[in-house]
Amino acid sequence: MKAAVIREYGKIKLEEAPKPVIKSGDDVLVRIRYASICGSDQHIFKGEFHPRTTLPLIPGHEFAGVVEEVGSEVKNIKPGDKVTVDPIIWCGKCPACEVGHYPACTSLKLVGIDLDGGFAEYISVPSRMIYKVPSHISDEHAALIEILSIGFHASARAGLEKNDNILIVGTGKVGQSILHAAQTITTGKIIMVDILEERLALAASAFPGIITINARQTDPVAAVKELTGGRGVDIAFEAVGHEVTLEKRYNPVRIAINAIKGGGKVCVLGLSDHPAEILMKELIWKEARIISSRVSHGEFAKVIEALDKGVLNPDRMITGIFELGDAQKGFEILDREPEKHLKILLRV
Ligand SMILES: NC(=O)c1ccc[n+]([C@@H]2O[C@H](COP(=O)([O-])OP(=O)(O)OC[C@H]3O[C@@H](n4cnc5c(N)ncnc54)[C@H](O)[C@@H]3O)[C@@H](O)[C@H]2O)c1
Ligand SMILES: [Zn+2]
Ligand SMILES: [Zn+2]
Repeated sequence: MKAAVIREYGKIKLEEAPKPVIKSGDDVLVRIRYASICGSDQHIFKGEFHPRTTLPLIPGHEFAGVVEEVGSEVKNIKPGDKVTVDPIIWCGKCPACEVGHYPACTSLKLVGIDLDGGFAEYISVPSRMIYKVPSHISDEHAALIEILSIGFHASARAGLEKNDNILIVGTGKVGQSILHAAQTITTGKIIMVDILEERLALAASAFPGIITINARQTDPVAAVKELTGGRGVDIAFEAVGHEVTLEKRYNPVRIAINAIKGGGKVCVLGLSDHPAEILMKELIWKEARIISSRVSHGEFAKVIEALDKGVLNPDRMITGIFELGDAQKGFEILDREPEKHLKILLRV
C-alpha cells in the first residue's frame, strides 16, 4: 500500500509499505479516504515530539474511511461501512484506567503518534476503536471528527452549561473545535481571542454570533469585562500552547484567569514546553478552578450526532485539500501561512 512516511524530521514522503492485515478476530481493516494534519503532527514533523515519537513513522491520528474487512468476532461493523477511528489506546491497568478515566492514563498511546497511523491507504485496528459514520456525512467531515471531539471533551470537562458566557483564548484548530462544540451547548456569549485577524474572521464566518478580539489591538481582559457588564465569563478556555509573547498583555493562561467571574472556571488545553507564569492570588481571590482537558473520552459519538443534525460548520475549518503524496506541501504551508490555513486534509 501507499503510505506517507517521516524518516527524517522535516521530510514526509510517499512510500510503498506492507498492507496491514487483520491479526485477531476482533480487528477491522479500514481503507482510509481522508486524513487531516493536526498541530501535534506539525510538532512530530519538526522533531518536537522527540523522544516520545520515534522514526520512521506513518503519522496521522485524524482520519476516516470505509471498512474493507472484519475479523470473525466483529459484530455490527461490516465491509462498506463508513467509519472513523478513535486513536486512543489506554493501558487498562494504571490508577486512572482502574476508574475508567482513560484520557488520564499514565501510559496513554495514540495511533499515528506512538505507533503508525492513518496517513496511509489502510489501517487495521481493534473494533472498539471504530465509530460508524452515517453515509450522508461527507468523508472530509468524517476526517474532522477526532479534532472536533477535543472541543466536545473540553466542554464536558469544564461543565459548560446552557447560558454560560465563555472566552476561548486561541482560535486555532483546537480553539475552533471548542467553538464548534460550545455553540451546540450555550446560548450565552462566545468570545474568541487570537493575534491573527484571518483566523478570527474564519471562526466568525462559521458562527456569525460570536465576538472576536485581536489581542494585538485590544486588551482581552478589559474587553471581556466590558462585554459582560463587569462580571467576567463563566468559563475561559486556553487553546494556545506555544504562545507569541505580546507586550502589555498577560500570557494566555493568565488572560483566562483574569477574564473569569468569581467562582468561575479555567480549562487549559495548550501543550507548551514552557511554564506559564500565573499569580496564584488571582485564582484564590476568585476561588476559581483550573481544569485540564486531554484528548477525548467517547465524545466521537457526540460529534457524529452533531454532524448528523447539521449543527456544526466543518467546511469552515477546511482550508486546503492535498493528495497524500503531497503531504510535504501540506505541512510546509501550515507552518508558513498559519493566517491562511487551519485544517489541511490529505486525500488518500
Ligand atoms: N489538550 C488536548 O487534548 C490537545 C489536543 C490537541 C492539541 N493540543 C494543543 O493545543 C494547542 C493548540 O493547538 P492548535 O492545533 O489549535 O494550534 P494552532 O497553532 O492552530 O493555534 C494556536 C493559536 O494561538 C494563537 N496565539 C499565539 N499566541 C497568542 C497569544 N499571545 N494570544 C492569543 N492567541 C495566540 C495563534 O495565532 C494560533 O491561532 C497546542 O499546544 C497543541 O499541542 C491539545
Ligand atoms: Zn490531533
Ligand atoms: Zn492506564
